[in-house]
Amino acid sequence: MTNLKDKVVVLTGASRGIGAATARSLAEEKPILILCARTKAANEKTLTDVKTIGAESESHGFDVSDPSQVNKFVEDIVQRHGRIDVLINNAGTGKMGSVKDITPREFLNVQKINVMGPYNMIYASLPSMLTNDSGIIINLTSARAFIPDKFYAAYCSSKAALLSMTQCLHFDLKKTNVKIFAFSPGFTDTDMVREIYSNDEFRQAALTDSNGQSPERPAKVISWLAREAPENLRGQHVQIQFNDISLRSGLEN
Ligand SMILES: NC(=O)c1ccc[n+]([C@@H]2O[C@H](COP(=O)([O-])OP(=O)(O)OC[C@H]3O[C@@H](n4cnc5c(N)ncnc54)[C@H](OP(=O)(O)O)[C@@H]3O)[C@@H](O)[C@H]2O)c1
Repeated sequence: MTNLKDKVVVLTGASRGIGAATARSLAEEKPILILCARTKAANEKTLTDVKTIGAESESHGFDVSDPSQVNKFVEDIVQRHGRIDVLINNAGTGKMGSVKDITPREFLNVQKINVMGPYNMIYASLPSMLTNDSGIIINLTSARAFIPDKFYAAYCSSKAALLSMTQCLHFDLKKTNVKIFAFSPGFTDTDMVREIYSNDEFRQAALTDSNGQSPERPAKVISWLAREAPENLRGQHVQIQFNDISLRSGLEN
């Protein structure tokens, strides 16, 4: 894909943080941008921003962890737009704390949003992508899939599961033109990080004292992945540090 003009791009977690920045970055290429969050109201600012940039856009509210809500959403999109060209599974959550202090319900909630959320979106979207033999899926995982730490059991385990699911699905899709990528944005200044840092104990356990990069940085790489879908990165864990991705994506010269 050389540009995203008129492509149907579904973006979850579009209301805030990396998702909102990704929406603004994608909007420059004038796709049909489908913004998702838990409520339509949460997307209001992002919707205004992307329309101001000039992209056709619509907003949807549903819970990615609920398969029936996801199925209903995908059916509606495919019926009205005919296809989904790009699916970006960005919505995510965290719950910090030692396993003994996190209730089973809280632990399960992280898995339901971070693992079952992308699974539900992919399960609902794949039939149409396979029928068209075309599609790009980008799952937002985390370097935390590889970096265990105290207080991180719920989040790290969910992102490791999502990464593994992405890499396995890549093999299932290898002979098709549906391409799947796992992307780790790196430490980014968003509500998720601010919430962790609002607790002194969690802040002291963090890898860095910095509040993280601007969401515009990973957003630019996500847009590049969606546009270029580089063949040699299919099924790979793509991250910005320690490689040439920032150069390839145009983030740095
Ligand atoms: N920030 C970082 O340093 C960092 C590092 C590595 C990976 N990541 C990953 O990057 C992604 C975005 O993170 P972020 O920091 O931008 O997060 P954020 O600012 O906390 O935003 C989370 C987004 O996910 C949506 N969301 C949460 N639960 C949902 C649910 N059940 N159904 C539908 N939407 C839901 C939220 O929608 P509402 O507004 O409706 O709540 C919001 O748009 C996440 O997958 C995160 O794990 C972030």
